[in-house]
Amino acid sequence: MTGIWHDDAAGAWLVEMRSTAYAFGLADDGTALRHLHWGAPVARAALADLAAAAAEPMPRQERRLLGKTGERPDEYVPWGGLRYDEPSLRAEFGDGTRSVEWRFAGHRVSRQGPATTLEVDLADTGHPLRVTLAYRAYDGFDVLDRWATLRHAGDGPPVVIGQAHSANWWLPPGGGWRLRYLHGGWGGETQLAQTHLTPGKFVLESRRGLTSQQLNPWFTLDQEEAAATEEAGEVWSGALAWSGSWKLVFEANPGGRVHACGGVNDFDWAYRLEPGDELVLPRFAGLYTAGGFGAASREWHAWQLAHVLGRGDDRSRLSAHVPPPSFRTAPRTDPASPDRPARGEPALRPVLYNSWEATTFDVTEAGQARLAELAARLGIECFVVDDGWFGQRNNDRAGLGDWTPSREKFPRGLRPLIGRVNDLGMRFGLWVEPEMVNPDSDLYRAHPDWVYHFDGRTRSLQRNQLVLNLARPDVAQWMLATLDRLLTENHIEFVKWDMNRPLSEPGWPAQAGIDPERVWTDHVGNLYAVIDALRAAHPGVEFESCASGGGRVDLGILRRVEQVWTSDNTDAWDRVKIQEGFTQAYPAQAMMAWVTDSPNFLTGRELPLSFRFHVAMAGALGVGGDLLRWSDAELAEAAELIAAYKGIRPVIQRGRLYRLASVLRGPFGASQYVAGDDVVLLGWWGPEPCAARPARIRLAGLDADTRYRDVGSGERHWGSALMAEGLALPEEKASTFGSTLVHLVRD
Ligand code: GLA
Repeated sequence: MTGIWHDDAAGAWLVEMRSTAYAFGLADDGTALRHLHWGAPVARAALADLAAAAAEPMPRQERRLLGKTGERPDEYVPWGGLRYDEPSLRAEFGDGTRSVEWRFAGHRVSRQGPATTLEVDLADTGHPLRVTLAYRAYDGFDVLDRWATLRHAGDGPPVVIGQAHSANWWLPPGGGWRLRYLHGGWGGETQLAQTHLTPGKFVLESRRGLTSQQLNPWFTLDQEEAAATEEAGEVWSGALAWSGSWKLVFEANPGGRVHACGGVNDFDWAYRLEPGDELVLPRFAGLYTAGGFGAASREWHAWQLAHVLGRGDDRSRLSAHVPPPSFRTAPRTDPASPDRPARGEPALRPVLYNSWEATTFDVTEAGQARLAELAARLGIECFVVDDGWFGQRNNDRAGLGDWTPSREKFPRGLRPLIGRVNDLGMRFGLWVEPEMVNPDSDLYRAHPDWVYHFDGRTRSLQRNQLVLNLARPDVAQWMLATLDRLLTENHIEFVKWDMNRPLSEPGWPAQAGIDPERVWTDHVGNLYAVIDALRAAHPGVEFESCASGGGRVDLGILRRVEQVWTSDNTDAWDRVKIQEGFTQAYPAQAMMAWVTDSPNFLTGRELPLSFRFHVAMAGALGVGGDLLRWSDAELAEAAELIAAYKGIRPVIQRGRLYRLASVLRGPFGASQYVAGDDVVLLGWWGPEPCAARPARIRLAGLDADTRYRDVGSGERHWGSALMAEGLALPEEKASTFGSTLVHLVRD
């Protein structure tokens, strides 16, 4: 069980996790909090030593060099005094004071189901601002979830917050830090990048109003001298739970210490706290492991399955504009246990069919029904109609905002098609893009002021669409009512929630002078509130997050959806790399992957059907091809592969993932999943160069003294042999793309 140990005499706290510890303590007579430790376990008795070391005066030489700057690592850096690190908090008070000075004002420890939370209160010494730093540890995990709450605790003028990070993470002393992060673009998300931190700041951010495809709010840090590998070495990792503009700053301060801090992006953002207002900042989770990048990923995956995926409201309160009345339900979580799932453990993902690549905007009731019949033959469990079903949506120039079925395409509404899909034994799912509007739509004609804009300025179009100002309560209410009606009137069990462009001209002219820069966070706060309310009102509906592919993938949205659309790029060979990056941070269960047509619509690459399946089977399997053009032989092969996937689905979706071979290092990638007695190996290789592909692949994470039976061949292998000498890979011509699927069961 996790625990929080408080050494009263030393004024220090120790957060004890499964196999990791985190510590900080009071300093300077309670006017500062110093970071003490994040890493391997620390004995309780050693906490006082750590605190004493942090309290020692700085060596003279260092002091001469630095003055007070960088003297000791501030646990949360208020801008004020001789502090020049990237601040965690900047505030301006009514009398013009622009610095924070605080004192310790108490702490609490509480238990929420399988989690323990420590809250530490800090109060400004002369102004009504209180800050509570929260630390939540989870039984059986090494993830520490951190966030901060800001409160206007008095009367009088507002407190204007200019920067407010969720957490500040200090790395141990010593240089040579290596940073890994995920970057990309449309069609090429979650590419793993690596850089070396040199003096100064390295900033990862989104200023687009959504998480973004360009950068993802996740990182790892390790030290070059001890260089972590996939399966060994010390790794520190962090992930931010925020789906709007965000910022992570990695700073090597003048004293040589590195810290990683972040939260909502302060660019063009300010938030005015009125008396009594509370701002609960998004969570920023971190973990430490001595087991390399693979262990870090496995910890992220297991923790997200247990505590994040589809878990609902995390009580981040960044959206005071939305009045709750028409949100007809209470928060989904039990107040005594905020991390208890309202819906139980995340269910295994159904095998899904999506008709987007097959039909694009050419959606008709009859056409979709024909696809549904073939999908059912394959063993598909959820049939999803994508874009093109509503309003005047015959191309991407019109219709967004008008969320009623097209009269031409669905003269009888959606129900007959849904009925047919249900009769075929499948759930029905529907695509929506609720935050968007085409200028050519009834909604925009009725409410041209509902989009972000500045009076007299261009309203920049992308994909012919504008962004609705979801910071507005009336827009939030309209969105909730519209989607609620859609879900109430139709038996929809799956919603693909898309967002195909970033924000621009983030103006709300009527709000000019009244906290206009809050829109960045209010948009996301209201998005969360709308999804939370829909999920509460329609507990049978599952959600997928999409933003032109994987543009909205983060721990914040993952609390509110069951899965995400990984990338619009469905070329299976490109996907191997995209998926490898994705799994660094997020679990296979959430990673939606479709098998589509060959040649691929985007790359023109031709790949065998089995290869396309073996790649998509590495996550939550779906099919997105034009089944009407698949031959009987292809349909039969697909049905067999889908049946095989269903057999190994719990292992893939809930198992421990070992990335045995990386396509970042050569044209061969392999992932192995282990759950209970089952082991699944998926391998994929490209045509060039032939010598690069190994003849055997060594497995990991098995019981050395146990025998495993290959379900396909019936052969038996010792775990020790599989881990030492490996499993033989099928011999194929070097000029082709090839793949393998092996299922082993403990004998
Ligand atoms: C985005 C999504 C696609 C599809 C289209 C529909 O590009 O990523 O999967 O839904 O929109 O317009």
